[in-house]
Amino acid sequence: MRKFGCLLFAFMLMGCEVKKFEVPLLIYDMQDAYMFDFEQKIQQAKDDAFILTTVDGQNSQIIQNEDIDKWINAKVPLLIINPVDRLSVYSIIEKAKKSGTKIIFFNREPLAQDMALYDSVYYVGADAAESARIQAEIIMELFGNDPQLNKFDKNSDGIIQAVILKGEQGHQDAEARTKVVVETLIQAGYIVEVLDISIANFDRQTGKTAMDGLIATHGQNIEVVISNNDAMALGAIESLMEKGYFIDTDKNGKIDRDSEVWIPVVGIDGLDFAMEQIDAGYLYGTVFNDSQNMAEAIVELANLLINGEDVSNLSFTITNGKYIWISYKKITNQ
Ligand code: BGC
Repeated sequence: MRKFGCLLFAFMLMGCEVKKFEVPLLIYDMQDAYMFDFEQKIQQAKDDAFILTTVDGQNSQIIQNEDIDKWINAKVPLLIINPVDRLSVYSIIEKAKKSGTKIIFFNREPLAQDMALYDSVYYVGADAAESARIQAEIIMELFGNDPQLNKFDKNSDGIIQAVILKGEQGHQDAEARTKVVVETLIQAGYIVEVLDISIANFDRQTGKTAMDGLIATHGQNIEVVISNNDAMALGAIESLMEKGYFIDTDKNGKIDRDSEVWIPVVGIDGLDFAMEQIDAGYLYGTVFNDSQNMAEAIVELANLLINGEDVSNLSFTITNGKYIWISYKKITNQ
């Protein structure tokens, strides 16, 4: 009886409420346009099952590591991590394994050998090579789906003269997108001359500065600007507008591709600001990096992991017991 009374008292104190778990959502850098949008999508996809606290790593692995230590010490059941340096997550995984904390990594993919260190570590992302193949398809469409090329071969030499804006060095997306977009075009029979590759860290302002430099060196020789993401593509467009590569002659805020001066720029991500630029005729095309579906996959997986349920119950396909891959989609206004 005494035992029952205590139990009743304990329930009354708790107001019979079930305690919710708090889970940190560690973002590598909230200044990153794509991650800023992605974070909102994850927060929106979340239901009431747990509390999700966003933590900004400010592009510093040192800061993020300190945060991770803090959350592990607070005994959270799960860490959702967008790592600053995807190549140095070894120590994070080791610590989490020791304390039994589960991990979902996303967007910045750890090395396979690090993923193999611990059973309760997962990755939600997209296959970078796929985004590059779709971006190459957009470029092929631009040139009339014909390796002999069309009027967009400005100097009529049968070769695509391209410049590439590359994202952060070492990021799986920057490396694969840069390589595979060119490989795909070559495999399809196109001849490509990459005039230059400029690293602009996935950032709009850096993209603009990089494009200023590319124009200074290669100017009118550039036939297409291939950007690893939309933010850099829009930075490039700003630079190209300033230098007369886009001229909105009738000043209606849009580029009419049949009568006004323009140059093809292609991006990846499909963020809202990029879609507006596609509608306005400035951005030629982009590839949708589906953060909405990734956000839903992360939240669903988090719920299963927190409740100790089997991940095979997931409504998304899980590959090798650890990976959830979300497909990219092509976007142009052709
Ligand atoms: C996106 C970039 C973003 C990066 C952050 C990539 O998948 O395409 O826009 O900066 O992820 O890690």
